[in-house]
Amino acid sequence: MTVRINPSILSADFVNLQHEVERIATADLVHVDVMDNHFVPNLTFGPQMVGRLQSVSPIPLDVHLMISDADRWAPGYAELGAFSVTFHAEAAADVVATARAIRDRGSRAGIAVKPGTPIEPYLELLHEVDQVLVMTVEPGFGGQSFMPETMPKLRALREAVRAHGLDVWLQVDGGIALDTIGIAAEAGADTFVAGSAVYGRDSVEGAIAELRAAATA
Ligand code: DX5
Ligand code: ZN
Repeated sequence: MTVRINPSILSADFVNLQHEVERIATADLVHVDVMDNHFVPNLTFGPQMVGRLQSVSPIPLDVHLMISDADRWAPGYAELGAFSVTFHAEAAADVVATARAIRDRGSRAGIAVKPGTPIEPYLELLHEVDQVLVMTVEPGFGGQSFMPETMPKLRALREAVRAHGLDVWLQVDGGIALDTIGIAAEAGADTFVAGSAVYGRDSVEGAIAELRAAATA
């Protein structure tokens, strides 16, 4: 299985973001956390910043929208050229229509679920999306502890993807580090977001390589 390591710039230095994305050129995608201080109790940046990042990043953008009213805002991030745009199922009135709007604009569409949100309602919609993000912490902040109780959702997703013969990436986000990435990989994840476990290290390149090795061990 192909493993993808997506460092989250939430843990990077926000006044040096161009440098911070250039440092992670050996990763697969740069994970960009958009927060609105409404869906989550934290605030980051919006389309103007994401558009500038898009123009300087050596690797494609994996945009994670933690914002209310996702139906309204998500398609705009696809128009900016993001490789993937993931919105929270809890924040969308029409998950399928929003996923289609993202795909229509040329980006991969993803849905995300918070730790307490059941995955069953979405297992029948997997053909409408390109990736599913299982939050392994409560969204909002970096540096929290991995929640192993979310792993049954990954197992259910992996089984559904296999049963339907789909190519849907299964992503985990939150508390992913050398001691937890193997647990998520074993449960079925193939795409790993890591903030503090990459940017908290002196050698971000070394951290990316070690995470990649630990995911495939
Ligand atoms: C949290 C964000 C994550 C965050 C992960 O809501 O979605 O992407 O950056 O940070 P770590 O890897 O430090 O848990
Ligand atoms: Zn994220």
